[in-house]
Amino acid sequence: MVRIKSEEEIELIRVSGDLLGRAHAEVAKAIKPGVTTAQLDQIAFQFISDNGAKPSFKGYKGYPSSLCISVNEVVVHGIPGAQVLSEGDIVSIDCGVFLKGFHSDSAYTYGVGTIDETKRLLLEKTKESLYLGIAQALDGNRTGDVGFAVQSHVEKAGFSVVRDLVGHGVGQNLHEEPEVPNYGKRGNGVRLKEGMVIAIEPMVNMGTKNVLQERDGWTIRTSDRKPSAHFEHTVAIKKGKAEILTTFKYIEEVLGV
Ligand code: MF3
Ligand code: CO
Repeated sequence: MVRIKSEEEIELIRVSGDLLGRAHAEVAKAIKPGVTTAQLDQIAFQFISDNGAKPSFKGYKGYPSSLCISVNEVVVHGIPGAQVLSEGDIVSIDCGVFLKGFHSDSAYTYGVGTIDETKRLLLEKTKESLYLGIAQALDGNRTGDVGFAVQSHVEKAGFSVVRDLVGHGVGQNLHEEPEVPNYGKRGNGVRLKEGMVIAIEPMVNMGTKNVLQERDGWTIRTSDRKPSAHFEHTVAIKKGKAEILTTFKYIEEVLGV
């Protein structure tokens, strides 16, 4: 069942999403060669807790941390730990905030120091594909319209879209219906309706679309060990234009972009 949110509920998700954006920015300030992924996780945990909220992921199906931190060939769900970031890495930071009964969910992929041109292009095309997907997230459209917009953009650039993981509804639960694939055909899939809130989260690989799960039961990496990028926003479906409830504004202030 897809839960339709009231204007008041959507406003609460926006407040949760604003705090999430500020938590991301605190992490962004610390992304440098030499930092460990556990240190980044601690920054997010502290900031979210200090602001009276809870990290959505911690404890979700036994997940141990506040962030998923996915470096280079790790696509998503990397568990923070002793891993040290190095110049030239790309790192996806995925975070969720639970505030006043509502979750928000977003992800951003960073270059650590200077990255090579293909990695830069991978980040650029993945972020663009997220916004193209959001532009299709309209009342009356279908999830296939969103997936088609994402897939066609990244494939044009020679990259591939992960099939095994998808976006999702967001609200009182971190994961709700419907599923929101990042691939598909126009006019296929679940019909979107005003008041639905969904997370759109393209996972884009430089090489093969195929992924596998590591033995820790969480980490998803590319089968060919080539790099992967991930960007995510939580958005509310409207009649005219989707409203983005999470924000990269604070992150991009830190990055100066
Ligand atoms: N943003 C991620 C997703 O929607 C959440 C990570 S799952 C968790 O799949 F278990 F780590 F919370
Ligand atoms: Co998500």
